[in-house]
Amino acid sequence: MSTLGIPGLEPALEASLISGMAGVESLLNEHIKGDYPLVEETSRHLVAAGGKRLRPLLTLISSHYGDPTSKGIIPAAVVCELTHLATLYHDDVMDEAPLRRGVESANNRWGNTIAILTGDYLFSKASDLLADLGPEAVRLQARTFERLVIGQIMETQGPLNGEDPLAHYLKVVGDKTGSLISTSARFGALLSGAPKEIVETLTKFGEEIGIAFQLADDVIDIASESNQSGKTPGTDLREGVPTLVTLNVLKSTDPKDFELQKLLRAPIENEEIVAQVLAALRAHSALDQSRDQLMQTAKSARLALGPLPLNDATSALFSLVDAVIDRSA
Ligand code: IPE
Ligand code: IPE
Ligand code: MG
Ligand code: MG
Repeated sequence: MSTLGIPGLEPALEASLISGMAGVESLLNEHIKGDYPLVEETSRHLVAAGGKRLRPLLTLISSHYGDPTSKGIIPAAVVCELTHLATLYHDDVMDEAPLRRGVESANNRWGNTIAILTGDYLFSKASDLLADLGPEAVRLQARTFERLVIGQIMETQGPLNGEDPLAHYLKVVGDKTGSLISTSARFGALLSGAPKEIVETLTKFGEEIGIAFQLADDVIDIASESNQSGKTPGTDLREGVPTLVTLNVLKSTDPKDFELQKLLRAPIENEEIVAQVLAALRAHSALDQSRDQLMQTAKSARLALGPLPLNDATSALFSLVDAVIDRSA
């Protein structure tokens, strides 16, 4: 894996992306400054802890289909990362997650109230940058955020009126994760002045790779044996949140799965049982089935790239799909 997490980047593109990402870091760090020390400290907590910066990177790559030096690109990339960050603060409250980006979550360190307000502060900072990008950008982020919130609410509520749980899950994933990753790509294409068809193609690609990314994340939540993802494995099991792997187990009609299915239908509070269930899931065919579903989604993402010109940016997007799959291998 090379710099930026994408293998085999063409050197001139790589240099441009490295320099763009340095611009993103600098604006991100500058922009979260505020008048009140505590909220700056709590926001800086996760900014400084790192993260993959997938969304801003996608904005930058997508800007190479137009003029990547256009002035709105870096602020738009920062808007995507700030929006993402804000949702992480809120998501960790909802999921009662103790660890994020390899550090203690904000809710664990400062409590839920401060974590929620820090998320709100970051949204306000994103809006402040958006104001300079014009009404179309403001509306795009607002509608993206709307989808994201609806995805989180649908996940919380669960399937309705006999809706198929897997179909519901895929809709949730598109909305909670695909939405912002798609918009990250769209921003780069739009603000660089890329042709309209390319803007639409990249938006579709962003949605597909976003879904693949969340499926990979769900596989990692079960399959990784350590905190290497920067999060605690089994967080979804403790909360009783169904994910790809557990939904595949729940679909089984094999009587030997009945006991496991019973455990998966509710939050698991006992740590010994969490460990047992994790071990059972790691050995279960549902994990391979989930990896196959991830491969299928990755294929859709690659197919979405079909209409793009064959250039260095397109090669980078193909490699990005591979990198998303490799994370969960
Ligand atoms: C975490 O996103 C939430 C999901 C959509 C799975 P990332 O995996 O991109 O988190 P960071 O930014 O690298 O911490
Ligand atoms: C990720 O939700 C989506 C958002 C943060 C909007 P998850 O709860 O599945 O992600 P992780 O595993 O905590 O990163
Ligand atoms: Mg979570
Ligand atoms: Mg969640």
